[in-house]
Amino acid sequence: MPDIDQKNFRTALSRFATGVTVVTTRDSNGTPVGVTANSFNSVSLNPPMVLWSLAKTSKSMAAFSEADRFAIHILGSHQRDLSDRFASRGADKFAGMEVPTDSLPLLDEFAARFICRTAHQYDGGDHKIFVGEVLEIDVRDADPLLFLAGKYGEARRAPPENYEGIDPDKARVGAHSITHMIATLYAQITDRIQTRLAPISLNHKQLVILIAVGHQEQPKWSMIKQKVESAGMVNAEAEKDQLVGNNLLKEKDDALTITDDGRARYLEALSAIKALEEEYCAGLTRNELAEVQNALQSIIDRTGDGDMSIID
Ligand SMILES: Cc1cc2nc3c(=O)[nH]c(=O)nc-3n(C[C@H](O)[C@H](O)[C@H](O)COP(=O)(O)O)c2cc1C
Repeated sequence: MPDIDQKNFRTALSRFATGVTVVTTRDSNGTPVGVTANSFNSVSLNPPMVLWSLAKTSKSMAAFSEADRFAIHILGSHQRDLSDRFASRGADKFAGMEVPTDSLPLLDEFAARFICRTAHQYDGGDHKIFVGEVLEIDVRDADPLLFLAGKYGEARRAPPENYEGIDPDKARVGAHSITHMIATLYAQITDRIQTRLAPISLNHKQLVILIAVGHQEQPKWSMIKQKVESAGMVNAEAEKDQLVGNNLLKEKDDALTITDDGRARYLEALSAIKALEEEYCAGLTRNELAEVQNALQSIIDRTGDGDMSIID
C-alpha cells in the first residue's frame, strides 16, 4: 500500500473544481433512488459515454448496480438545497417531488441532463465506477453549481490574462481600456436614456434631480445642487426651476418635495429605463450581471470622494 496521508490526499483532491450532479435511478421495487455526486466526468465522444463513481457503503449501491438505466442531472447554481438533499444518507430524498412513476425518476430542473444506459461497472477501491452510454441529452440556459475545496461555488469567467491598462504604443489596447469603455458607455447610454425620456417630457438631468428629491424627506436644494454639480451636471438650477414650473416639484424656502404628478412621472421614467436596461443586458447571465455590478461599484467607490451618490 502506498504511504499516502488520507487528509493530504483529500486536500489535494479538493483542489480540483467540479460541477455537482444528482444521479437517479429506480431500485428493483420501483422506488426512486438518487445521490449527489461530483465524481462525474466525460469519457468518450463517439460513442458518447460518461462516468461517475459511488461509494460501496452507499445505501443506493444495490439499486445502481442492478439498474440498466440512470439519469445524471448537472445542477444549476440555484440548486444547492437539492444537492444537500440528495447528499443526505438514506433519507426520503424525493419527498414532495413529482416524479414519473413509470420511467426513470427525472428531475425538472437542471443545467444539463444525460439519460444513460449502464454500459460498464468497474471496481474502484472503496468506490464502484459506473460508465454510462448516453442515450439522450437536454441542456438548459443555466449557470452550473460548482464544488471546490469542500464548498459550493459559482462559475465566473477569468479576467483577460494580460490587462495592462492603457498602452499608448498599442492603439487597440488603448481603445479597450476601461476608461475608454466607461466613457463610451456613458455617452451611449445617456443618449438612449434621453430618447426614452423625451416622450414623457423629462430629460436625463431632471430625472436625476427627481430621484435625489424622491429618496429623501424634504431635502434641501442647496445640498442636492452641490452633489449633482460635483457629479458634473451643468445648469442644475435651470433644470430644477423647470421641474418646479411644471409642478413636478414644490419648493418652499430651500426645501423641495416631490408632487403626486412628479412621483408618477418619476415612476414612468424608471420603468422606461428599466426596460432599456433589460434590452442592453439581455444575453448576460445572472453571474455576469453580478460581476458587472460589483466591478462598477468598486470603480465608483474608488473614483468618488465617498459622498457623491445622489441617493443617501
Ligand atoms: C458535492 C457532493 C459531491 C458528492 N459526490 C459523491 C460521489 O461522487 N460519490 C459518492 O459516492 N458520494 C458522493 N457524495 C456523497 C453522497 O451524496 C452521500 O454520501 C449520500 O448520502 C449517499 O446517499 P445514500 O447513502 O443514500 O446512497 C457527494 C456529496 C456532495 C455534497
